[in-house]
Amino acid sequence: MVQIIDTPALARLLAHIGIETFLSELAERIENDYARWPQFEKMPRVPFHSQDGVIELMPIADSEWFSVKLVNGHPANPAKGLQTVTAVGILADVATGYPRLVCEMTVLTALRTAATSAVAARHLANPGATTLAMIGTGAQGEFQALAFKRCLGIRAIRFYDTDVAAMVKFAANLRTASLQLIRCASVAEAIAGADIITTATAVRGARAVLTDSMVGPGVHVNAIGGDCPGKTEIDPRLLSRARIVVEYLAQTRCEGEIQSLGARAPALELWEIIVGCSQGRSGRQQITLFDSVGFALEDYSTLRYVYDKARALGIGHAVPLIPQPRDPKDLFGYIRELAERAAV
Ligand SMILES: NC(=O)c1ccc[n+]([C@@H]2O[C@H](COP(=O)([O-])OP(=O)(O)OC[C@H]3O[C@@H](n4cnc5c(N)ncnc54)[C@H](O)[C@@H]3O)[C@@H](O)[C@H]2O)c1
Repeated sequence: MVQIIDTPALARLLAHIGIETFLSELAERIENDYARWPQFEKMPRVPFHSQDGVIELMPIADSEWFSVKLVNGHPANPAKGLQTVTAVGILADVATGYPRLVCEMTVLTALRTAATSAVAARHLANPGATTLAMIGTGAQGEFQALAFKRCLGIRAIRFYDTDVAAMVKFAANLRTASLQLIRCASVAEAIAGADIITTATAVRGARAVLTDSMVGPGVHVNAIGGDCPGKTEIDPRLLSRARIVVEYLAQTRCEGEIQSLGARAPALELWEIIVGCSQGRSGRQQITLFDSVGFALEDYSTLRYVYDKARALGIGHAVPLIPQPRDPKDLFGYIRELAERAAV
């Protein structure tokens, strides 16, 4: 039987666990899996680009589990009443190759992206950070806010979006989150005095949502919106001043902010910082930047976390998605018998 976690089942899981606990437990899982980086068989995701966006496959495996996510990015979708990002994930047992979990991953992508942002910021931001600036308050926004609150102790959020309705939604959703919410009229106003800046805009093309002169010393930038070839949101001059950390260089070189610095731009991988073989921040004045595009390892951690939790709590549906013939070689007889039974 294959466990199915659809959107209502995920909602039950979140209700049981609590969204902030979910984010912090998931952050632990992601950090632990990054710490065993060499054990994973990795590859850059496989993208299929069209003029409207991209559809990608994100596979990864260790010796026990294989996971893959199907995800899209379509910046013009909200104008059609559709989401920019949607996703579905599969977790399979390496020993037999059998799928064990088929899972909604649209909400889970927002949760894992926020948890990963928090893991990186814990290693890169100055200790004692209390104020986050959110640039772009679309689908990812609230998840980012709650992950930074829970995992880093952020208490105030200065936020700006070009779409006023997105800011109203963001503030309404977080009204009971015990966060000080400061709505701003521009990017420059939002980042004034912030310890950490998250950029989560979804515009195609090379933009400079954050320009060089806007960002002062000591700030940590969590850049999650630039995640495709030709789609960036940070001024290259700001990148040149920052210590840059990425998830997986082989993927980020062509998809992340660093694509605008050329093939030899210096950057570290997150796992190196986590295990301590490279230094993250070297002083309070340094600008650090997490150039996040989203990596398959984060989906692997998420699928395994959800699988464990859902089974422990008895949430989800076990579905005969894979045939179970008595004789494994008699697939024909198995489906004929089922068809005959269905016909009567
Ligand atoms: N790094 C990752 O792992 C990861 C994961 C998920 C999504 N993403 C990316 O993050 C981005 C945001 O995703 P989303 O699902 O929240 O998209 P979304 O469309 O729901 O929200 C994006 C928001 O950015 C706003 N915006 C656009 N230009 C702006 C500007 N110049 N200043 C301020 N706000 C601006 C839009 O009005 C919108 O509200 C997308 O580019 C997506 O591809 C990255």
